[in-house]
Amino acid sequence: MTQQRETRSLIESAYRARTPRSAGLHRDALALFPGGVTRSVTFYPPYPTYLAEGCGCRVTDVDGNEYVDHLNNFGSMIHGHAHPGVVRAIQAQAAKGTDFGTPTELHLALAREISRRVPSVERIRFANSGTEAVLYAIRAARAFAGRPKILKMEGGYHGGYDSVVVSVNPGSGAPPWPAGRAGSPGLARGIADHTLVAPFNDLAACTAIVEQHRNDLAAVLVEPVMVRGMIAADTGFLSGLRRLTAEHGVLLIVDEVVTLRLAVGGAQQVVGLTPDLTTFGKLIGGGLPVGAFGGRADIMARFDPSSADPVHHSGTFAGNAATLAAGLAALEAFPEQEIQRVNALGDRLRAGLRQTLARCGVAAQVTGTGSLVGLHWSDQPVRDYRSALRADHERARLLHLALLNHGIFARPGGGFFLSTAVTEREIDQTVAIFGTALDEVGQFVTR
Ligand SMILES: Cc1ncc(COP(=O)(O)O)c(C=O)c1O
Repeated sequence: MTQQRETRSLIESAYRARTPRSAGLHRDALALFPGGVTRSVTFYPPYPTYLAEGCGCRVTDVDGNEYVDHLNNFGSMIHGHAHPGVVRAIQAQAAKGTDFGTPTELHLALAREISRRVPSVERIRFANSGTEAVLYAIRAARAFAGRPKILKMEGGYHGGYDSVVVSVNPGSGAPPWPAGRAGSPGLARGIADHTLVAPFNDLAACTAIVEQHRNDLAAVLVEPVMVRGMIAADTGFLSGLRRLTAEHGVLLIVDEVVTLRLAVGGAQQVVGLTPDLTTFGKLIGGGLPVGAFGGRADIMARFDPSSADPVHHSGTFAGNAATLAAGLAALEAFPEQEIQRVNALGDRLRAGLRQTLARCGVAAQVTGTGSLVGLHWSDQPVRDYRSALRADHERARLLHLALLNHGIFARPGGGFFLSTAVTEREIDQTVAIFGTALDEVGQFVTR
């Protein structure tokens, strides 16, 4: 225990010594924002690093420290920061007007580009966030199917819509499937009654739940990679869900808010999957707020404002011109060969992390696929929420701080969203620094 306390205090002291201005801003922020932040996920103890600027794969904090950024705003900054093509597109559009409250040619251009890449998208609509995309996809599914329930995966994060803030992080006393646990105070009462929960990567459990609840079930919602732990779906899990849902007349919604980055046509292309609906966000906005949802024309037709009883969808800023222009530029700079290059860098990072762990004799699981890389301090394979929960989270927290101290910005809790701005050089540098941070965290074991 004493050694653990010393390790923690050494790493935290080094962090505090490097970031006094961040500490001061956090103190001021506590008087303005609950907990000092306006987005809960951006907080980590003892206080978050305040970034001042970024260019390519590098960001600089308010104390002048430079980092290689592998957080990239949780995956939205696919090209890193201030990508010249994206900057030009935003500047050009800003000079012409950012928002009109009418359709523009940009709407058609971005819609065509997304459906060219993702053929399951026959019709599409734009929104302001991944949260909204998920909300409207679920609303469309319920309206189309005429049934109230959805099934999501335990541990799956799909944003802030009440219906999906269920069993995102239910802890060790989670109820038995398919019961879910409401994931926040303040959700609509009884919300978990309409959101069933299944273990990720467990087709047998999903089958049993879908068979039992098909008369009430509108849709199954799934991420191809559970991004909270960077846990990729096993071969066959997604195609199995497709067969299962089709057989029972339940819709399949695939959440590609993050995984669109894995192939030109997203993860659904990699597994040869045709979902009924897909949700998008992050990279399709080029760093500006965005969401989109699309899929089968007959389902999306429920939004047609000239139809008898249309499904409500609106949003003042949905499809604003600046976002659409930035999104088009970001997609233009993300052709097949760039995707393959950044995916290969993900393979290189995974291999480097595994080699370092093996050399140091530390048991941990390196997960993820393509440019999404995860790390779990556990000696057991991680393939779903419950196996991820067994990992040592305090150790992950310390490693994150230790990496920051050496100039690597990763996701708090472990994880890397690689951008196209990195090269082999930054990956090798990250692996070398990981070795140093691992030494510092040392034999710190909390369990
Ligand atoms: C898979 C997935 N879906 C939906 C969302 C929600 O997107 P947003 O934060 O833009 O509302 C996220 C956000 O991280 C996500 O990772």
